[in-house]
Amino acid sequence: MLAIALSAVTPALPAVAAQADATGAETARGLLLFKEAATPPCAVCHTLADADAFGAIGPSLDEVKPTAARVEAVLRKGLGGMPAYDTLSDADIRALAQYVSHAAGGGR
Ligand code: HEC
Repeated sequence: MLAIALSAVTPALPAVAAQADATGAETARGLLLFKEAATPPCAVCHTLADADAFGAIGPSLDEVKPTAARVEAVLRKGLGGMPAYDTLSDADIRALAQYVSHAAGGGR
């Protein structure tokens, strides 16, 4: 009885763990880019409490709460006084879009 129940549950676990890992790695990459790896780092100009960033040149992302799509569009094209980040890889842009939208509470 117990053995049957366990074997029914076990196969689902590795898939869940792998998904959590991928998301965790993307979040970590997004945070690193935000704080220091992007050139110039977003933190220089933006406030985002989750990243301990208190830049005041651009709008506070905690207040704007941009969606991932909004972040991605701004990074690809730039906006007003903000430069485009067109040298970032697609993976890095995605990592930033996911990280910033979630950290700021903008969801997807
Ligand atoms: C040199 C300063 C500077 C840097 C560095 C910078 N930004 Fe910006 N950002 C701005 C300014 C200024 C605006 C507002 C532009 C406007 O509205 O005309 C802005 C706007 C934005 C917006 C749009 C907010 C809205 O109103 O929807 C997002 C999202 C954003 N920045 C994300 C980022 C991310 C992510 C990075 C790092 C990859 C970054 N910014 C780096 C200055 C900067």
